[in-house]
Amino acid sequence: MHIRPRRNRKSLAIRNLVEETKVTVDDFIFPLFLLEGSNQKIEVDAMPGIFRYSLDLMLNEIESCMKLGIHTFDIFPVVPSHYKDKMGTKGYDENFFYLKALKEIKSRFPEAAIMTDVAMDPYSSDGHDGIVEEGEILNDETLEVLGKMALAQAATGIDILGPSDMMDGRVGYIREVLDENGFMDVSIMSYSAKYASAFYGPFRDALDSAPKSGDKKSYQMNPANQREALIEADLDIDEGADFLMVKPALAYLDIIKLFKDSYSQPIAAYNVSGEYAMLKAASEKGWLDYNSIMQETLLSIKRAGADIILTYHAKEFALLRR
Ligand code: PBG
Repeated sequence: MHIRPRRNRKSLAIRNLVEETKVTVDDFIFPLFLLEGSNQKIEVDAMPGIFRYSLDLMLNEIESCMKLGIHTFDIFPVVPSHYKDKMGTKGYDENFFYLKALKEIKSRFPEAAIMTDVAMDPYSSDGHDGIVEEGEILNDETLEVLGKMALAQAATGIDILGPSDMMDGRVGYIREVLDENGFMDVSIMSYSAKYASAFYGPFRDALDSAPKSGDKKSYQMNPANQREALIEADLDIDEGADFLMVKPALAYLDIIKLFKDSYSQPIAAYNVSGEYAMLKAASEKGWLDYNSIMQETLLSIKRAGADIILTYHAKEFALLRR
């Protein structure tokens, strides 16, 4: 044998030298859940270690993450049910606690990059990402609501909008509304390939945002489809998306790889709530070693081609690598 691959694995120094993929905290976007009020910190049932925070405590959390090198945060509102209505009007009410909080967060941490979610579900009494009429999700009417949400969020000074609703034409519609109103510098990270996945369960519990009836299969993608993701991504690029996202991540590594090979835009992957829950549950039972599987999972998402990873593991990873 004159070729012995084990020679390149013979010591830690050599292994580090030939290591092809490295995950760093610079790759992360840390999702956070915002509560109304003050002095509130409530753990998410199926996500041990992940809390919903009121603004005061969220500011502390962001500060401690920033010290660990995490600089980008995706902030989702927990909307009490009495605020929800058919048209999701709180989504663009500038006096609503979420929008006021975003402004405060940006003024306290101007160097942080703040991302928001553009979809109706947290504000909708139907629990859907679009307007529901007789069981149907209305696409073009929903775009108007999304445009108003995007504008209201952009006006708070946030950096990246994340349309997660999967309505047709929403990236172009939002881009146009932003540009017409002088928000040329606000970025769009499109949830390009967002699948109708059962892995979102813990997130919907955290936000109390599950659909009141039906499912999301008429707008989120069929998990069986790969080539359809290219149709979505081609459209998003044409419509002005700055980043393309694949969601979920772990069961969709082939889609991440496909995007990486097909496009020059940065590729993001959303390592979703159910993926986090699986790792936590197995390690709480003592069946898997959390720190090892967490790092291996993030590594696999990066190796598949993700430049950016939205992950609930961000802070624990940062603490481990400190
Ligand atoms: C809202 C939205 C969802 C997630 C991010 N934005 C839920 C859904 O589409 O039902 C899921 C995130 C996660 O599971 O961690 N449209």
